[in-house]
Amino acid sequence: IDVARYPDLDTSGRSFRDACDQCHVLPEPSSRPAREWRRVVQRMEDNMSWMNRIVGSAPQRGEPQLRRQDILGYLESKAGR
Ligand code: HEC
Repeated sequence: IDVARYPDLDTSGRSFRDACDQCHVLPEPSSRPAREWRRVVQRMEDNMSWMNRIVGSAPQRGEPQLRRQDILGYLESKAGR
């Protein structure tokens, strides 16, 4: 990600940043179209539950549904074609 292009990572993009930089660097939002972000976020949720089984502690912050909407909404608003 080119963070200079995303000054709103501290505000509207916060859920995306906090959720998605836990395991790897943040992906570039404009690198994929919106429909692919839906699939990626779904798969990352599977990765997260898999990780939770390994480390035994779930990072249960906030309301999951809401955060998912926050993350997807942010990615979709920045998505490429
Ligand atoms: C629990 C750790 C973990 C978290 C949290 C996580 N990821 Fe990932 N991510 C992975 C792993 C492991 C891979 C490589 C395997 C795979 O693609 O599933 C990956 C790969 C990726 C890829 C490249 C895969 C591709 O199809 O090219 C993207 C893009 C990505 N993650 C986006 C995200 C986004 C967006 C979030 C936040 C919703 C996120 N990740 C959160 C573990 C994580």
